[in-house]
Amino acid sequence: MANIKIADSAGFCFGVKIAVDSAIDAGKKYGKAYTNGPIIHNKQVVQFLEGMNVKELSSYDELKKGDTILIRSHGVPPKTERKLKELGVNVIDATCPFVKKVHDKVRQLVEEGYYVIIIGEEGHPEVIGILGHLEEVGGKGIVVENMDDLIRKFPKRNKVGVVAQTTQNEEFFEEAVGYIASNVEELKVFNTICDATSVRQEEVKKLATEVDLMIIIGGKHSGNTRRLAQISKALNPNTYHIEKAEELNPEWFKNVENIGVSAGASTPDWIIKEVVEKIQELTK
Ligand code: F3S
Repeated sequence: MANIKIADSAGFCFGVKIAVDSAIDAGKKYGKAYTNGPIIHNKQVVQFLEGMNVKELSSYDELKKGDTILIRSHGVPPKTERKLKELGVNVIDATCPFVKKVHDKVRQLVEEGYYVIIIGEEGHPEVIGILGHLEEVGGKGIVVENMDDLIRKFPKRNKVGVVAQTTQNEEFFEEAVGYIASNVEELKVFNTICDATSVRQEEVKKLATEVDLMIIIGGKHSGNTRRLAQISKALNPNTYHIEKAEELNPEWFKNVENIGVSAGASTPDWIIKEVVEKIQELTK
């Protein structure tokens, strides 16, 4: 049997744990609860929660006075919070404290007169929330996803502040900040990548260089899982990103002795366990 090394940081981060536990409690307590979009980017968990009476909302128009809605760990723009209040619904705020910190830093930068560059994925719910907080205080800024994007959109400003989506790639963040620093007069940087993300990325970097094959588990729509897979693949081309055990291909395991496994922040332990058991079976 091959040696399988599972990263200590694989699986739910504390922010996702809080959100999922709060959703389960809300389903039990109120008999029915909604989330503003999939609670996490993991189909299996979303299906599990449906069985616990927690449903993904397709439109805010679905809500009636007295309904319960849980705000996901990604957070929302302030105008969405206001809308929910106006609708008279019961709001459970499961915004991750690390995401709230980004909101605070953006507001601080605007108050201090900085133009804001957000290192993140355009259209990601967390980034939509961050932009909402920027707008709320009358700030101006842009979102950049990669170096080409940064160079193309680079603003003609002298005073620039930087924050990151909490699950961004540390290396891209550092490269982007280096570029910005050499092109503006005044720069203020808040590295808002959360600890759970930094630790997970560091562990994958180490593990990828120690094994013959890397398996990264998590939703294909999960940005943080995709970034883990990219980091791993850059160091070990024998890297595969899968959502569940059935996707494992026996061909991958031929002549392989050491296998590394990690998973995104939205991957539950039971899926990691199933994948590991299947790898054990395939390498018997
Ligand atoms: Fe929060 Fe970081 Fe998880 S921002 S939700 S602890 S990945």
